[in-house]
Amino acid sequence: MMIRKAEAADLPAIRKIHDAAFGGPGEGRLVADLAADGLDTLSLVAIEDEAVVGHVLFSPLLVEVDGKAIRALALAPLGIAPAYQRRGIGQLLARAGLAEARALGWDAVIVLGHPEYYGKFGFRAALTAGFKAPFQGPAFMGLELRAGALSGEKGRIIYPVSFGIDEGEGVSAGA
Ligand SMILES: CC(C)(COP(=O)(O)OP(=O)(O)OC[C@H]1O[C@@H](n2cnc3c(N)ncnc32)[C@H](O)[C@@H]1OP(=O)(O)O)[C@@H](O)C(=O)NCCC(=O)NCCS
Repeated sequence: MMIRKAEAADLPAIRKIHDAAFGGPGEGRLVADLAADGLDTLSLVAIEDEAVVGHVLFSPLLVEVDGKAIRALALAPLGIAPAYQRRGIGQLLARAGLAEARALGWDAVIVLGHPEYYGKFGFRAALTAGFKAPFQGPAFMGLELRAGALSGEKGRIIYPVSFGIDEGEGVSAGA
């Protein structure tokens, strides 16, 4: 298994992975829309058997803590081809992306996902709990790449339009 940066030519394969992993076109379309807007900041693919079998994308997110913008990324989506799931590829992709984001000087990463899965990488719902954001609940989590980046009296998180999120507040993301 190899991890490398995604290239423009990988997009059709990446979309297929997400369509299959998520059982619908939403996540693949999100990747294409973010790439079209130049927001595919950190995009990694896992290669096995000479094919793309997994993909993770990190895109910039507007995050303000106590009125000051910090350098934050959204981790979305992360998808592994069904036949290759539960072999550690998702973990390797996520960890590689987070290491690269840290090396590039990003302050924090926000994710909406399974608390158990993302908790392993250090994501915590408590870090985003007080934020004005389109999601709340245990599945909406933050990770500080710079110590203290998400701690403050108050904060807010605004997603780019490609995410298709209503700016209504307090949508419960469930668990
Ligand atoms: C979730 C996903 C990215 C994980 O990647 P992966 O390569 O399959 O998983 P890994 O091998 O890295 O990790 C496996 C471990 O993670 C946990 N895990 C995997 N999928 C999980 C899930 N949906 N919920 C909770 N835990 C999960 C399990 O504990 C598993 O351990 P086990 O093998 O001992 O049971 C992948 O399964 C996937 O693409 N799923 C469909 C799309 C999706 O739900 N994406 C995540 C959006 S937040």
